[in-house]
Amino acid sequence: MSARGASVTPLLGAEELRERVAELGRQITRDYADRPLVLVCVLKGSFVFAADLARAIDLPLRIEFFGVQSYGDLTTSSGVVQITLDLKQPIAGEDVLVVEDIVDTGLTLSYLSEQLRARNPASLKVCSLLHKPARVRSPVEIDYLGFTIEDVFVVGYGLDHAEQHRNLPYIGVVTASG
Ligand code: IMP
Ligand code: MG
Repeated sequence: MSARGASVTPLLGAEELRERVAELGRQITRDYADRPLVLVCVLKGSFVFAADLARAIDLPLRIEFFGVQSYGDLTTSSGVVQITLDLKQPIAGEDVLVVEDIVDTGLTLSYLSEQLRARNPASLKVCSLLHKPARVRSPVEIDYLGFTIEDVFVVGYGLDHAEQHRNLPYIGVVTASG
């Protein structure tokens, strides 16, 4: 399959993603049992996952966006994170679920959790679509996980490589560019 010159080999298909997101939504709905929830969508990578997950959760909820950018080259995180967009409302006393696209080294999520915990939510949990345990540098607890993947750089379903491929409806591995 090709998108803008680069070849992307599918890893997780649209249907597989849809089914797993629906399961996560049901699990979250059960666990929070009618308690209102604040979903914190971590931009940019989580925007597609968060949109689908939100619709799979049957609870009163609101959505906040948290923009972070980690400095580093295109495929590795440096752990130095910059907040590019802050939450619009306080989260003190609320049940907060962070929605992440992928936990790789864990550095971004560690920083993020620290930032959010300092704002005194009633509870703070994490839902990540993907996890690459091979590269973990800062161990983080993922309460809800979509898929564990090998140490490959993936794109699609919100994830990018140099801002490309976020719009692919599936997740794949960039195998060549040109
Ligand atoms: P970490 O700080 O190393 O855990 O990296 C987290 C962030 O790096 C993710 O939220 C993504 O934005 C980006 N990232 C890590 N691995 C990948 C990948 O395979 N594809 C696309 N983005 C990735
Ligand atoms: Mg991200």
